[in-house]
Amino acid sequence: MKFFIDTANVEEIKEVASWGIVDGVTTNPSLIAKEGRVFKDVIKEITDIVDGPISAEVVSLDSEGMVKEALDLVTIHKNIVIKLPMTKEGLKACKKLTDKGIKTNITLIFSASQALMAAKAGATYVSPFLGRLDDISSDGLILIEDIVEIFSNYNIETEIICASVRHPIHLINCAKVGAHVATIPYKVFEQMLKHPLTDIGIEKFLSDWESVKNL
Ligand code: E4P
Repeated sequence: MKFFIDTANVEEIKEVASWGIVDGVTTNPSLIAKEGRVFKDVIKEITDIVDGPISAEVVSLDSEGMVKEALDLVTIHKNIVIKLPMTKEGLKACKKLTDKGIKTNITLIFSASQALMAAKAGATYVSPFLGRLDDISSDGLILIEDIVEIFSNYNIETEIICASVRHPIHLINCAKVGAHVATIPYKVFEQMLKHPLTDIGIEKFLSDWESVKNL
């Protein structure tokens, strides 16, 4: 499973990239707003840290505007993936960008039919948001399972990015059903890393070592 980091904070990206486990980055307008920085500057900086797909989202609502923004964003770096909303206009833009060889990530996917349509429009990635579904008492994992099954039935090459990941169990469940990618917030990476028995084990090894280290 590929791990993307879901943030626009360059310090978080540098930190997790230094652990050697980051395959790509996803951003969205809310994550950019949290940083209070110029969008293109942030994206450029991210491309200098991670050599993998970096999703940058358009904000236009019409396909022409989306394509225009996309053509500008892809000049930043070869690894830019254009994040488009799951709308009619987003699908149109996806098709146009795909025809130009530009990679896309269709975001805000909440149903299997949306994922299938995005794949048919040529999306490189689809981003189903499992956490936001769980938030409204709907089972986000069922959506991931359905998309995995449908894409596998038809050998669809579009990769599934599990998005809106809130905790390590989300990630484990997505990995169990065979999703290609999880985009993970920094906080969840830290939660995934930690285990109290690991900490206790290290402490015990070091205290035992004290008794023999000077022999
Ligand atoms: C995905 O690409 C989105 O940026 C993200 O996963 C949304 O997560 P949220 O529901 O926690 O905002």
